[in-house]
Amino acid sequence: MTRLQNRAPVGIDLASSVATVSRTYVTTPIYYVNAEPHLGHAYTTIIGDAITRWSRLMGTPTKFLTGTDEHGLKIQQAAEAEGVTPQEFTDRIAPKFAAAWEKLNIANDDFIRTTEQRHKDAVAELLQRCYDAGDIELDTFAGKYCVACEEYYQDDELIEVDGHADCCPIHQRPVQYFEEENYFFRLSRFQDRLLDWYAAHPNALTPEHRGNEALGLIRSGLRDFSISRTSLEWGIPLPWDEKHVTYVWFDALTNYLAAVGFGSSGEDAQDYTDWWPATHLIGKDIVRQHCVYWPAMLMSAGVELPQRWAIGGWLLVGGEKMSKTSGNVVNPLDLIDDIGLDGFRYYVLAETAYGNDGDFTYEGLVGKYNSDLANNLGNLAARVATVVEKKCGGIGTPPDPDSALREAARSAFADTAKFWDDLQPSRALDATWGLIRATNGYLEQHEPWKAEPGTAVDTVMGDALEALRIVAILCSPAIPDTAQAVWERIGMRGRVDDQRLPDAAAWGRYEPGNTVVKGDPLFPRIKL
Ligand code: ME8
Ligand code: MG
Repeated sequence: MTRLQNRAPVGIDLASSVATVSRTYVTTPIYYVNAEPHLGHAYTTIIGDAITRWSRLMGTPTKFLTGTDEHGLKIQQAAEAEGVTPQEFTDRIAPKFAAAWEKLNIANDDFIRTTEQRHKDAVAELLQRCYDAGDIELDTFAGKYCVACEEYYQDDELIEVDGHADCCPIHQRPVQYFEEENYFFRLSRFQDRLLDWYAAHPNALTPEHRGNEALGLIRSGLRDFSISRTSLEWGIPLPWDEKHVTYVWFDALTNYLAAVGFGSSGEDAQDYTDWWPATHLIGKDIVRQHCVYWPAMLMSAGVELPQRWAIGGWLLVGGEKMSKTSGNVVNPLDLIDDIGLDGFRYYVLAETAYGNDGDFTYEGLVGKYNSDLANNLGNLAARVATVVEKKCGGIGTPPDPDSALREAARSAFADTAKFWDDLQPSRALDATWGLIRATNGYLEQHEPWKAEPGTAVDTVMGDALEALRIVAILCSPAIPDTAQAVWERIGMRGRVDDQRLPDAAAWGRYEPGNTVVKGDPLFPRIKL
């Protein structure tokens, strides 16, 4: 005990390895409610959740937003197909998303629905500002439209599928021909301004290869895009011409501002810049709208541009993007039944580098679970508790301030922090798992289970308990329930997610003298 008291915690040297920001506002796409939540939606939402939890551990005030995209032709058609009004339809599906996120332990602070009044107010405000700036004008439009994408396509972008010409390259279904008088957003005016802005903010788009795709879209030339419909009823009317309703993307994108109070007034007025600008998590399917349309809309309206965009790849099933249209939907809640909540969360976060495509297979899910969770973390927690029980009377012992594990813990923290900061959860977790592997190796080297009880065993086990304490904190954004269980089993009090980094990762903070409990295996091995 005295050894610990004589030594200052090393929080100071850990602090120099991490960047600090004053606040963070993390968003997911708002998902279409034409279908129920699937693994692809869970993918982005879990990543947003983990990034949020990490940011909070770092002591940064963080807001996490998700929600549902409820207007547009696709929803109107889905409602018609079931013989209900669009409002009835969306009222039935939106809560399924909220409920799924609750089951997945998603720590969102807010859930926005585009049918809410606050959203309609924000859309009206943004539209009016762009209109007043002269960037929205009336024109006639004719073109080929994919309802599933809610997007027009040029002829050279369309593909042939099973003998059908003019199919959407994403949904592989025929597009429809539309001709209408629409309001247009004059995107073509923004090419240089966007390129200049991105050049001045080289870290805004991540990962880099996905960012380059976005820049390529801008360089290849920008066409004005239609922002209204007269043929559609299910949407928000334009404030200056109520015959038109807002076309889905102008509507949908504005959710990110609406949720922080943009367009609010009167008693409920909120300063949206308290949280804005945001870090947007998006899939690669919606890069054009988020990295090209959206910043141009914001420039036009005189709103600051987002802080960052983190562009994810797709989780494929049998080589195809999972979607209701492709009929290969995997329900995340079914997977939880098989592998446990944290097993599933870990897989989503750790299996694929963010930005790359991943191929979901059941074998891959079980393989990752067995190797990283059952054999590594679960095994470490179990063997530490077993040895402490047998050799230390079940009471936690103090770590050695100069332990060989101390450096492993320091570098695990520094790398974990760096990769979370880069919005690369798989790399962050690999860095955290580096400490787990080092601790298992340390135990195998010392073989405390073979030694007689005494100081030597106490010290080795103190080191392992201290490493586990740090592991519990570092893995808590990914697998919060397991992290709390480890925290309690090693005798720590309170909540692991109330810890604050970097100080909490300083070597030597384990509180010896508490009861260590073994408990049931955290991750029983699964046979295929
Ligand atoms: O596009 N793999 O909604 P959406 C990985 N409402 N991520 C996937 C995925 C997959 N197979 N499938 C979906 C929309 N996603 C609009 C967005 S935002 C202002 C409006 C994730 O329901 C991924 O993040 O089609 C993708 O960008 C998003 O869900 C699209 O969800
Ligand atoms: Mg989609």
